[in-house]
Amino acid sequence: MRNRVGRPRAASRAATRVVGPRRPPSASRGRLPRFIEKLLDTQAKPGFANCRKLHQNQSHPNGNGYLFDQFLQDGSNKRTDSYGGSFENRARFLLEATRAVISVWGSDKVAVRLGPSGSFGDMADSNPEGLFTYVATELGKLDLAYLHLIEPRVRGNVEDDTRDPNPVAAKLIRSIYPGTIIAAGGFKADTAEAIIAAGDANLVAFGRDFISNPDLPERLRRKAPLNPYDRETFFGGTDIGYVDYPFYDQRVAA
Ligand SMILES: Cc1cc2nc3c(=O)[nH]c(=O)nc-3n(C[C@H](O)[C@H](O)[C@H](O)COP(=O)(O)O)c2cc1C
Repeated sequence: MRNRVGRPRAASRAATRVVGPRRPPSASRGRLPRFIEKLLDTQAKPGFANCRKLHQNQSHPNGNGYLFDQFLQDGSNKRTDSYGGSFENRARFLLEATRAVISVWGSDKVAVRLGPSGSFGDMADSNPEGLFTYVATELGKLDLAYLHLIEPRVRGNVEDDTRDPNPVAAKLIRSIYPGTIIAAGGFKADTAEAIIAAGDANLVAFGRDFISNPDLPERLRRKAPLNPYDRETFFGGTDIGYVDYPFYDQRVAA
C-alpha cells in the first residue's frame, strides 16, 4: 500500500520532521526534454500497464511538494536556465509535460493537481498568487479533464492552524480558470456544499474522511456520523486502516 499512495519520499517525512527546501534536480537543461520524451514514450505504449503509469505519473502531476511543485515554487527552484526564474520558466516543465501527455491521451483524460500557496514538504514561493494565477491561466488553455486544487489550510494531510481557515485557493483560481475545478483540503459536508453553492468549485474531494469511511458519499447523503480516521495507519504499508473501516450499516447492525 505504501507505494500505491505514491507519496514523495521527502514529503513523506515532512509531516513529522522539517527538512530544508529541496531543489529541483540539478539536471542540465537537455535532460528535461529527454525526461518528457521518456514520459511520452511510456504513455504512448498501449495497454493496461501504461494506464497504471498514467495514474502514477500523471493523473495528479503536482501539489504537495512533488517534482512539478518543486519546479513551480521559487523556494525550491533555484535554476538559472529556462526552467527557473520567471513564472513562465518555472511553469515550463509542468506545461511541457502536461501537453506531452495530452498529445497521447487527449485532454479529457489528463488532469493537474496544484497546491496554491502549499507549504507541505517545505514548499514556499515569494509570490504564490502571481505564480498560481499564471499557471492556472496557462492550464486553462489546455481543456483538461479538471484542475484539482489543494487548499493551503491543509498541509499534506494535517490542518495548518497558521493559515486562513476558509478555502482561498479555489476562490482565487475560479476567476481565471474556465474548466472544472475540484477543491480539496479540510472539507466537511457543509463546507463542501457551501463552496459549490458559491461557485468556487465544481466538485469537492475528500481524503482522510474517505479513508476511514468507505461509504462516505452515502453517509454524507444520510447525514450519518463519520468513522474517525486513525492517522497512525496512514501509509502504514499494510491493508490495516485501508480496507477495515466499517460501513455505516455494519456499524448500526453490530
Ligand atoms: C493516506 C493519505 C495519502 C495521501 N496521498 C497523497 C498523494 O499521493 N498525493 C497527493 O497529492 N496527496 C495525497 N494525500 C493528500 C490528500 O489528497 C488530500 O489533499 C488531503 O488529505 C487533504 O484533504 P482532506 O482534508 O479531505 O483529508 C494523501 C492523504 C492521505 C491521508
